[in-house]
Amino acid sequence: MKDHTVREWMYERSPEPQSGFYVLKHKDKDVAMIQMDTFTGRLEYVLAVYLPEELPVGCRADGKSLSNWWSLRAIPDSRKDLRQVLSRTGVETSQALLLRSYGLSLTDHYWVQPIDRELYWKDLNFFENDFSEELGNLLTDSEEDVREDVELLRVSPSASVNGDMKKKWIIRDGVRSLLKVNTNHYGQQAVNEVIAGRMHERLGWKDHVPYRVEKIRIGGHDHPCSISPLFTSETKEFVPAYQLLMDHKIPNESSLYESLVLMAVEMGMEEEKVRRQLEYMIMTDFILSNTDRHLNNMGFLYDPEHRRFTDMAPIFDTGNALFYDRAVIPHKENLLDINVNSFCKREADMLRYVKKPILDVEKLTDFPEEAESLLRQYTDMPGGRAGEIAETIREKTAYLSLFLNGKKIWKKEQYW
Ligand SMILES: Nc1ncnc2c1ncn2[C@@H]1O[C@H](COP(=O)(O)OP(=O)(O)O)[C@@H](O)[C@H]1O
Ligand SMILES: [Mg+2]
Repeated sequence: MKDHTVREWMYERSPEPQSGFYVLKHKDKDVAMIQMDTFTGRLEYVLAVYLPEELPVGCRADGKSLSNWWSLRAIPDSRKDLRQVLSRTGVETSQALLLRSYGLSLTDHYWVQPIDRELYWKDLNFFENDFSEELGNLLTDSEEDVREDVELLRVSPSASVNGDMKKKWIIRDGVRSLLKVNTNHYGQQAVNEVIAGRMHERLGWKDHVPYRVEKIRIGGHDHPCSISPLFTSETKEFVPAYQLLMDHKIPNESSLYESLVLMAVEMGMEEEKVRRQLEYMIMTDFILSNTDRHLNNMGFLYDPEHRRFTDMAPIFDTGNALFYDRAVIPHKENLLDINVNSFCKREADMLRYVKKPILDVEKLTDFPEEAESLLRQYTDMPGGRAGEIAETIREKTAYLSLFLNGKKIWKKEQYW
């Protein structure tokens, strides 16, 4: 009989058992017995929790929140063109797509094993094993080789990555990397990631994801995409802030922000370190008018062996910034009236959380010029727009300087 590699074996057989009984695994540890609806891919019941301490961080010991945790692991319904991808792959929902890939991901070490199969982490995980990019190509519409055989689209880490932008995991020069595609808004979101990286470099802040821009061919056109190397590993998992707070009730006297700090400290983080990164992030997001620093766009690195956080995750996803979706670029006092999706509704109010207003804005001299030239180089936006965007960086930096000098710029007083 012909020998099969594990991968071939997986492709050849349907991974969905009729019963829908699965074991939730953390690497090779049996964490819980669960029942899945194999049609919708939903986690229906938690039948038993064997190892409560191995449940995903943020899940209660009875495992009740696992269903929510699982659904957040799948591609969100808001992802553009998701329906076409699902129909092409022959599944109903993104959770069913996730189940086909055994729930494997490149951000943590969880997966689900059908009870009638004997499978092992070392054979399946995407950190060590190569994976096909075909599902990823479908998800990004890349004009790469997408075979008709849907079986080949089964097992992919691209089925378990959140966020609205079209994206796929790739292996480039041996490095697992996330490629995010930008086909509208002049491709600005991809370039914004690089601009943010340059700002962090100038400020000497090492804890950020290094993005680069490349072009990807879709529908006969080249579009900018951002590529970032994996910040997780076989020994480091990512826990989004949202997951940490998923089951946490915020006391009336506290805030979401303070609860996050407190919970992080309970998980082993040094309070000072958490505050330093959150405050740095708030100040630099302000400079770039990043409107999307929600709880899935920040988080912690988890050491599964010692069951504690070791660090904050490096700053990532600063794409929704610099007025990428605005036809008219705001200026002057309008820059203090920006709505954001984060700890506060109004961006300027976020600065109230900053207890140590320290940032060496001198290091940002010429940064607006650099941002403008990156926008001109990599996007097809009119030069005038790139110039206006650069001007907002200049104006926001000036406002931030006022804040650093003790002015409460969120109050609607005249400082200009
Ligand atoms: N470099 C990376 N290494 C590991 N995980 C990543 C990396 N970049 C993003 N992720 C994971 O992928 C998710 C989606 O990426 P993100 O950049 O936030 O996309 P979007 O812009 O669509 O929101 C993140 O929430 C995080 O869980
Ligand atoms: Mg995101």
